[in-house]
Amino acid sequence: MQLPKAELHLHIEGTLEPELAFELAARNAVVLPHSTTEELRRAYLFEDLQSFLDLYYALMAVLCTEDDFDRLADAYLARAAAQGVRHAEIFFDPQAHTARGVGIGTVIEGLARALDRSEERHGISTQLIMCFLRDQSAESALETLEAAKPYLHRIAAVGLDSAEVGHPPSKFREVYEAAAALGLRRVAHAGEEGPPAYIWEALDILGVERVDHGLRSMEDPELVKRLVRDRVPLTLCPLSNVRLRAIDVLEEHPLRDMMDAGLLVTVNSDDPAYFGGYVGDTFHAVHEALGLGQEQLRELARNSFLAAFLDHDEKRRQA
Ligand code: HPA
Ligand code: ZN
Repeated sequence: MQLPKAELHLHIEGTLEPELAFELAARNAVVLPHSTTEELRRAYLFEDLQSFLDLYYALMAVLCTEDDFDRLADAYLARAAAQGVRHAEIFFDPQAHTARGVGIGTVIEGLARALDRSEERHGISTQLIMCFLRDQSAESALETLEAAKPYLHRIAAVGLDSAEVGHPPSKFREVYEAAAALGLRRVAHAGEEGPPAYIWEALDILGVERVDHGLRSMEDPELVKRLVRDRVPLTLCPLSNVRLRAIDVLEEHPLRDMMDAGLLVTVNSDDPAYFGGYVGDTFHAVHEALGLGQEQLRELARNSFLAAFLDHDEKRRQA
């Protein structure tokens, strides 16, 4: 039996499995840089975040129509359900699609089709988090927020992702202020490869409620105090950290130390098609590598509902 859990750090484009990528490539007459699924899987040896992002953005070329986004999201939800996910807060990267000429409406309406069927078909409630690409300009992020205005009823929150170092959260102060004024909730990737200073900025300048990754928090004891005091959730992604070489091996992941320090951490899959597992697989891996027992795994599952953008009663029911 899989523990019921929420997934809070999941890039829908990162759930594109090679089989679906080839199917959509054939349908949309897109040429992929590899000729078989095996050959493609062999390319999943990453040096760092950027080397992953290069492939991640290249493969997205196969996502063209509403139906493609619907297929992608429905396939994720089916896999997630089989691994105990009951609630998913799903990132998407509109700029990665609009830059290729795919409209933001195509992306959102396509995803929404799958999400609208999700409770009935997969028993998973869902929300969407629209991410800005931090290696693009702040103006581009503002234009994206503007373009999303007809679809705001579909979007729960904004996030910040892509290449971190050199693109601090403060670059996006204005767009986060605008998002807050529109009633959107706020999260941001910080402290994945970037320093603890980026986590402080995400909190104090962007006003985020949750930090995505926050892996490097433990380097700054004052930051840990602040995160503990304010019960700021950190959405950790241990398999991603190993695959992108933020840490050498899973056995060295700070997850257990972070729990012991009183941080509200959750465990998530990030880009499961690329990093070797969905969220249930991730629970299993940290159990094996870090010796986390049933009580700690239950705590992680409980944290995932506490940290979710569910209303209070719903959280208590699930956790
Ligand atoms: N980090 C930053 N940006 C991303 C990631 C990630 O792991 N996955 C997809 N976009
Ligand atoms: Zn991520």
